[in-house]
Amino acid sequence: MKERLQKIIARAGICSRRAAETLIRDGKVSVDGEVVTEMGMKVDHRIQKVIADRIHVRFTEKKVYVLLNKPEGYVTTMNDPQGRPIVTSLLKGIKERVYPVGRLDFETKGALILTNDGELAQRIQHPSFEVKKTYVVRVQGAPTNDAIQLLEAGVELEGKMTAPAQVKVYRRGKKDSVLEITIHEGRKHQVRKMCQAIGHHCVELTRTAYGNLNLGSLPSGKFRYLSTSDLTRITKTAKKMRVSKRVNKRRK
Ligand code: URA
Repeated sequence: MKERLQKIIARAGICSRRAAETLIRDGKVSVDGEVVTEMGMKVDHRIQKVIADRIHVRFTEKKVYVLLNKPEGYVTTMNDPQGRPIVTSLLKGIKERVYPVGRLDFETKGALILTNDGELAQRIQHPSFEVKKTYVVRVQGAPTNDAIQLLEAGVELEGKMTAPAQVKVYRRGKKDSVLEITIHEGRKHQVRKMCQAIGHHCVELTRTAYGNLNLGSLPSGKFRYLSTSDLTRITKTAKKMRVSKRVNKRRK
C-alpha cells in the first residue's frame, strides 16, 4: 500500500509529520537512492527504500500467520498475468503483506498457510523437513489395489521416483473414487500427476491438512489466525523429522 512520504516517516517514529515535511523540503529524504523534495509523493515502504535524515525508515511488522481454506479458482501467486483472483484478496482485515507458504493449483482447494514470517515459511517448506501434506482426491474410475500399492511405493514423474506415500481408499465407484493421499514432497502438480501415473485422472483435489494443521470446520474462502500452539506443533513436527533423519543416518 502506498502512503505519502511524510506520513510514512512520521508513522515510523522518526519525527512528526510536520518535521518530516521540513526534512523533505530540505532534501534530507531519499527514495531508492534518489533525493525527493516533492511533498505529496506516494511510496510503498515495503518495496521502496526510504532514508530520512540518514535513517532507514523501517517498520517492525507484527508477524501474522493464518490458515486459509482456499476455494477453487484462486491463484497462490501474488499477481497473475491472466488477471485471475489471488488468494490474498480473501484475507479481509489483514493489513500486513502475507505470502502463501508453498502453492496450490488454481483448481485445488483447501489448507493454505499464509504468513509474513519468511523464516518460518522457508523452514516448513524446505524438503529436508518433510512436513506431511494430506489431500483428498476424487479420481475417475476405480483404482485397483495394485494401483494403490504403486502410489504408495512411489511412481516415476519426469524421470524421478516420488517418495513413498500413505494412501487410503475412502470410496471406490465405477464412475469415480475418493482417496486420501499423504505426501511430504511438494513437486509441481504432484498429486494430480501421481494419479495420472496410475491411469486415473484427478477430478477434484482438496488439501485437508498441512503438517498437523487440519482444516477442521473452516468454511471455504475463510481463514483463521494460527495460535502459538498451532505454530509450535507445526515447527515441532518439522524439527522432529530432521532430528529423526539424523538419528537414522547414524544408525545405518
Ligand atoms: N498436488 C497437486 O497436484 N496440486 C496441488 O495443488 C497440490 C498438490
